[in-house]
Amino acid sequence: MFNKMLVAIDGSDMSEKAFDAAVHLAKEQQAELSILHVGREAVVATSSLTGIVYVPKHFIDEIRDQVKKEGLKILENAKEKAAENGVQAEIIYANGEPAHEILNHAKEKGISLIVVGSRGISGLKEMMLGSVSHKVSQLSPCPVLIVR
Ligand SMILES: Nc1ncnc2c1ncn2[C@@H]1O[C@H](COP(=O)(O)OP(=O)(O)OP(=O)(O)O)[C@@H](O)[C@H]1O
Ligand SMILES: [Mg+2]
Repeated sequence: MFNKMLVAIDGSDMSEKAFDAAVHLAKEQQAELSILHVGREAVVATSSLTGIVYVPKHFIDEIRDQVKKEGLKILENAKEKAAENGVQAEIIYANGEPAHEILNHAKEKGISLIVVGSRGISGLKEMMLGSVSHKVSQLSPCPVLIVR
């Protein structure tokens, strides 16, 4: 039934749980598995005094490169772990707003099940869902498995 699965990972413990569930399920369903990580946009600080800050371009590029490097490491580790469990997965690195990227890739690839963690890096315990898992579950064209 779920022959094309997409799991979104942000490097948090909860997304690790989601990933484990996705690998397990992909194996059971003999499904194709795509692993997606969305790099954070470069952060720009603002001055409280003037409201304006000049950030040299090379500095932003360096941050972006570093973010991408970290993201690729997360993806490579996940791919390796999937392989150890008998699942050959494809990895995707994207930039932008995480929920938007998850939904876009799911649509583009004709995904039949999206797997996310209930919470992620920010992980406030009082809230049931993070903003990404909330948005994905609200707007997804296909079933969503929210792992907690
Ligand atoms: N940058 C990302 N790339 C890939 N997947 C992500 C990303 N951010 C979140 N996710 C997915 O969404 C799940 C829920 O994370 P979410 O970001 O919604 O919660 P949070 O970090 O606790 O809260 P918030 O980000 O709203 O402050 C994660 O477990 C992961 O599966
Ligand atoms: Mg988050």
